[in-house]
Amino acid sequence: MQIRRLSIADYEALVELWERAKLHYKARGRDSKEEIAAQMAANPQFFLGAFEGDRLVGAVVLSSDMRRGWINRLAVDPGFRRRGIAKALIAESERVLKEAGIKVFAVHIENWNTGSKELFRKCGYVEHRDVTYFSKRESNEV
Ligand SMILES: CC(C)(COP(=O)(O)OP(=O)(O)OC[C@H]1O[C@@H](n2cnc3c(N)ncnc32)[C@H](O)[C@@H]1OP(=O)(O)O)[C@@H](O)C(=O)NCCC(=O)NCCS
Repeated sequence: MQIRRLSIADYEALVELWERAKLHYKARGRDSKEEIAAQMAANPQFFLGAFEGDRLVGAVVLSSDMRRGWINRLAVDPGFRRRGIAKALIAESERVLKEAGIKVFAVHIENWNTGSKELFRKCGYVEHRDVTYFSKRESNEV
């Protein structure tokens, strides 16, 4: 398994991976090909893929608000799970974010997602039960 930056040529494989992983994404909003291309152009180091040969088997999208680095859209192909691919993607994400001067790494995990919670706990992340996520958005597509 090798981790490398994704390019827009990987977009279709990325969407297929999200679909296989049953991960929610905003096809007409911030995960559309146009939006992803623009985000990649601005921060090419923030899109990472795990490959077995030519096959994309895991991916993560990073973001930074300058104070925190966020780990988003982490997904591993169901046929390749429990082999440490997500753990390796998280380690590489932290390395990339550190290079950008970030010292706090964060992730939003839906409450039901006990597998993901366990993964992040194992990677040293602390759960904050006293915080509830609020957001305001222009539409459900963004
Ligand atoms: C969550 C997900 C990314 C984990 O990917 P993965 O490559 O299988 O994870 P790893 O093999 O690196 O797991 C490392 C450790 O995390 C924990 N872990 C991972 N998945 C787990 C699960 N489903 N249940 C319990 N613990 C889990 C285990 O401690 C595991 O170590 P072990 O296999 O030695 O027991 C993958 O299941 C997935 O894509 N799920 C659907 C999308 C999703 O929920 N993404 C996260 C959004 S926040």
